[in-house]
Amino acid sequence: MRITMIGSGYVGLVSGACFSEFGIHVTCVDKDSAKIDRLNAGEIPIFEPGLEKLVADNRAAGRLIFTTDLAAAVRGADAVFIAVGTPSRRGDGHADLSYVHAAAEEIAEAIDGYTVIVTKSTVPVGTGREVARIIAKTRPAGDFDVVSNPEFLREGSAIGDFMRPDRVIIGTESERARAVMRRLYRPLFLIETPILFTSLETAELTKYAANSFLATKITFINEIADLCEKLGADVHDVARGIGLDGRIGAKFLHPGPGYGGSCFPKDTLALVRTAADAGAPARIVEAVVDINDRRKKGMAARILRACGGSVSGKTIAVLGLTFKPNTDDMRDAPSLDIVPALQAAGATVRAYDPEGMGEARKLLRDVTWCDDAYEAMDGADAVTIVTEWNEFRLLDLERAKGLLRRPVMVDLRNIYRPDEMLAAGFRYLSIGRAPVGFE
Ligand code: UDX
Repeated sequence: MRITMIGSGYVGLVSGACFSEFGIHVTCVDKDSAKIDRLNAGEIPIFEPGLEKLVADNRAAGRLIFTTDLAAAVRGADAVFIAVGTPSRRGDGHADLSYVHAAAEEIAEAIDGYTVIVTKSTVPVGTGREVARIIAKTRPAGDFDVVSNPEFLREGSAIGDFMRPDRVIIGTESERARAVMRRLYRPLFLIETPILFTSLETAELTKYAANSFLATKITFINEIADLCEKLGADVHDVARGIGLDGRIGAKFLHPGPGYGGSCFPKDTLALVRTAADAGAPARIVEAVVDINDRRKKGMAARILRACGGSVSGKTIAVLGLTFKPNTDDMRDAPSLDIVPALQAAGATVRAYDPEGMGEARKLLRDVTWCDDAYEAMDGADAVTIVTEWNEFRLLDLERAKGLLRRPVMVDLRNIYRPDEMLAAGFRYLSIGRAPVGFE
């Protein structure tokens, strides 16, 4: 089988590489010729564990190629995936579909023979029908079907998520298109992955509903964490206590500085707008969006509190900048609110992130960039953990204490235990648990 992936960003690249690992011939297309040149030179433009090897192996096997020539890549393909960006449109939060629509037109001009056009990008409900309309208008005699096949890939574990998903959603009314999709996902049928066949609209909405639900779950536990702080309860015990109820489930109940990344902020906002336009307001998700925004903005206040109420003239070491570990992605990362707020309050920031500093340098100003966690802590008045990279989980606390001017740690990811930090002589403030070491 032959497929084409339009858009070689995060979703297109990971999905393309994984399909080629299934034994399918995959051509990944992108308009950005510099990106295609890099990929053809064996360079991977994003940081994703395992991706470099997967791409290299499948390129060597001749199953994965990269090109800027969309028309050539589409001719003869059994399926063409649209995996271009759908950023939030400036001003109104609606997903910007200009790239999707442009891709649909170009695909329409190039198809020859029956082709399944698959939307992989997260797109608002109704986009699949619109793509079908655009293609039919551009190529009235074109033989094609449109399918919605949303991705559920987590950055940092995207390959595992693709190869062993909880489910695959395939939205189309066409039996012919279903047969093509069944063949593409055959390796997952063999491992008994639930594959749900739905209508186009249902598949599109399922993606938004899944991400909005997960964002809601995180926001719920974040609010419970705040309540724990007021009432002297421990949020981890509460999370475990509720998570053991099979109806609730233990995952996505880890409190933190608020969710970020390329999906949750954008998808929750898009669901809110879609629901409002449809006359069925999604009030819970509206609240989630608002609470999460405020949470990220309010995080710096915790650091001020740990520093006695002011950080003016003080130096703060910030460990971790990306929205989560194992990625270099800075999109909507809490650090983008926290660092400027600390600076506005008069602090000097020394920061370190294992993979995110290249991106962070473009987004944050006047930061002293450090080569490791210890260099960041050298001479700082407090250290804050903003992203839970593994290398921050086992810091040499004696060494850290020797480097810091004051032994103050604000752990926004709860990767240390209050009792061990107290024993190590730290003043330690975390999320949803009583602070320790402060008089
Ligand atoms: C998410 C979805 O999980 C994935 O299925 C989807 O298709 C794309 O969006 P991703 O954005 O890569 O994936 O990251 P995820 O691991 O889901 O985390 C999102 C954000 O929530 C991060 O900022 C993370 O720190 C935060 N989070 C997650 C919490 O604060 N607590 C949790 O318990 C889990």
